[in-house]
Amino acid sequence: MKYPKFTSKNSSLMAKFLTKEVFEELKDAKTKNGFTLEKAIKSGIDNPDSSIGVYAGDEESYELFAPLFDPIIQEYHGFTRRDMHASNLNIDELDAPNPDLKGEHILSTRIRVGRNLSDFPLGTAISKTQRDEVEMIVSTALNSLEGSLAGKYYPLYAMSEEQRLSLVKDHFLFKAGDRFLESAGLNRDWPKGRGIYHNHEKTFLVWINEEDELRVISMQKGGDIKEVFTRLVQAIRELEKKMKFAFSEHLGYITSCPTNLGTAMRASVHIALPKLSQDMKRFKSITDKYHLQIRGVNGEHSQSEGGVYDISNARRLGVTEVQCVQDMHDGVVELIKTEESL
Ligand code: ADP
Ligand code: ARG
Repeated sequence: MKYPKFTSKNSSLMAKFLTKEVFEELKDAKTKNGFTLEKAIKSGIDNPDSSIGVYAGDEESYELFAPLFDPIIQEYHGFTRRDMHASNLNIDELDAPNPDLKGEHILSTRIRVGRNLSDFPLGTAISKTQRDEVEMIVSTALNSLEGSLAGKYYPLYAMSEEQRLSLVKDHFLFKAGDRFLESAGLNRDWPKGRGIYHNHEKTFLVWINEEDELRVISMQKGGDIKEVFTRLVQAIRELEKKMKFAFSEHLGYITSCPTNLGTAMRASVHIALPKLSQDMKRFKSITDKYHLQIRGVNGEHSQSEGGVYDISNARRLGVTEVQCVQDMHDGVVELIKTEESL
């Protein structure tokens, strides 16, 4: 492999930090699972508009390719090699009363965490047999859950196209054919090995073998952020009894994309801000202040519809889960206050 030719179209952090020197140092390195620099950067090369442009193949990738991953992690999370990650899932420490008791702004609240099994490579480097094994382990564990988390696993290959599209439209299921995941090798053997588990109310959901082996999701209508967090923590605790997740003292939960390291948590609301969104500068000054990210209403790489936005925490590493949700809550309180003053 030769040093890639980057042009002004390559806006990713990968293009920024993959200098010739770093490339020469890493180009022949290979993890135990056979993951290489070429595989790590493929998505960013194929998609010059990537913002990050790298994926890891396993926990070892973050060590072996540290000269590339470390500066990306530092720029995205403000987290250095010397920092340690700490987890805090204590619901009592979250101060998050519903910011929209009248139900005028927040349509729904969703909190997800990414998880991967400690004894397998990440989805980018996994074999078909291993992926099927992950699906079996996780779906069997989920199907044994009881009480309010009890539900059923729906493998993607057995779903009708109509059923799949309806789950995507209602924001429960991941989209198909994401070009970033495709280039990263995360869509190999699609749709086999993928699927969704949900409880009867569709307030607790788990995606299997999408970008991460598990995406554990708690969601419901309205703005009761604490209830959503409480359900998520309960679900994580139950799952931890049944499987071991990849975790490092330094990087927290190990995920295929460096943006998700640490808590692997994205806590979001769908919120209508028709007035404030007319003034994007003011809108962004509030989201920046609370370390929040603005997405469109159909998730990442989508546009807003009817003044409705997806507002979530941007920081995930070097902050606790409680802090991620607190950031989102506090920012949303200010967004609503500002919207109402206009
Ligand atoms: P992820 O959350 O896993 O990083 P996406 O940004 O693609 O990935 O979002 C996945 C799905 O979750 C999308 O359909 C998105 O609209 C939906 N979603 C995100 N936040 C909310 C929310 N607060 N309420 C309802 N649906 C949501
Ligand atoms: N690889 C894509 C990019 O660099 C997405 C990065 C963050 N999002 C994610 N789903 N991991 O733009």
